[in-house]
Amino acid sequence: MKVGIPKEIVKGETRVAVIPSMISVFIKNQHEVFVQSGAGEGSSFSDDEYREAGAVIVKDPVELYGSIDVLFKVQPPTLHPKSKKHEVEMLREGTALIGFLSPAYNADAIRKLAGRKITSFAMEFVPRISRAQNMDALSSMATIAGYKAVLIAANQLGKIFPLIMSAAGTIPPATILVLGVGVAGLQAIATAKRLGARVQAFDPRPAVKEQVESLGAQFVPLEVLKDVETKDGYAKEQPEEFLNRERKVIGERFPMVDVVITTAQIFGKKAPLLITEEMVQQLPAGSVIVDLAAEQGGNCVLTEPGKIVEKHNVSIYGAVNLPAAVPIHASQLYSKNVTNLFQHLYSDPEKGLDFEDEITKGVCITYNGEIINDFVKNLLKTGGEI
Ligand code: NAI
Repeated sequence: MKVGIPKEIVKGETRVAVIPSMISVFIKNQHEVFVQSGAGEGSSFSDDEYREAGAVIVKDPVELYGSIDVLFKVQPPTLHPKSKKHEVEMLREGTALIGFLSPAYNADAIRKLAGRKITSFAMEFVPRISRAQNMDALSSMATIAGYKAVLIAANQLGKIFPLIMSAAGTIPPATILVLGVGVAGLQAIATAKRLGARVQAFDPRPAVKEQVESLGAQFVPLEVLKDVETKDGYAKEQPEEFLNRERKVIGERFPMVDVVITTAQIFGKKAPLLITEEMVQQLPAGSVIVDLAAEQGGNCVLTEPGKIVEKHNVSIYGAVNLPAAVPIHASQLYSKNVTNLFQHLYSDPEKGLDFEDEITKGVCITYNGEIINDFVKNLLKTGGEI
């Protein structure tokens, strides 16, 4: 197959879908690889490195998009600044596309993919099962985001994280509260612990308490509801009664907290509101909130995506695309995930896709002119976007 790797066009996106060291995997399997000139620039990979790995460098994106069988991307397709055409329209009918598609925010692109008979695969739909762990880009990117969120908070805070005993006096460790302990939350806890902070955390999924404690952090006690998880392991949307209780219990801790990292999300829905303006007022002056759910509506009511808001002497950082702030390793992990998925999907290109397979069925969004993923189909039917 002819495989294409373009330069990402979304503002601020520094990652590249496939890095030079993964090119040999494609070549070994008799695929041809075409890389747009400058595709790896944002993550410090040069055209020469791709060339040495066996790829052909293509200058013109219109030529690249129009000549390949599979396009590997990071960001969902959008209007291309060079061709002034939508990326989907630059592809030939029947081409395959692998990347994040964010269907809840890109209904128009999804309809275009179906209309153009593109076979599209969404990285966020890789099932959370053991067999698919090495394709799970949501986890890889959440790991990077959780790590970076803590470093951002540490830089912004006018205090240091570890306990320091010096001749000039003793400085107690900073207190960090992590709300939402999925992949990003666990990495945030681990990073804050490594920096010497005192860490507390909460998540409504019962399995999380043990994970938090195994990292040496304290789990905030709060009676949780039964039946909080979907069959895929995601948290279900909680009723307002529970969220009120959660806000009360969490809020009581705020006067003693220096940093709050929030990562709480509900798959395909708006993020739950965990921090009200009154709660922000309870934080000590100079505290920092880093909201990793900023793009999904925010866990803090004052969050503005992509901005640092200063309110009530608290800095609220609306984190957007943190993996792009660590492009080399983010691209490395993503690259491995998409390549593994590609190899799984096209293990036998002669035979075609196996829709009996849970992973293939889960990730495929559009095929042969139709939206075939039930979740996305329903989402678009019911008005679509979050
Ligand atoms: P996510 O990004 O969808 O959500 C982040 C966290 O927010 C979740 O832990 C969720 O429980 C939590 N949350 C939701 N409502 C909340 C509230 N009101 N207050 C506090 N926290 C709240 O989650 P992520 O990181 O994508 O993980 C989702 C699930 O998938 C988890 O159960 C995780 O352990 C599981 N998983 C399984 C894998 C596998 O077996 N291959 C790989 C990665 C994750």
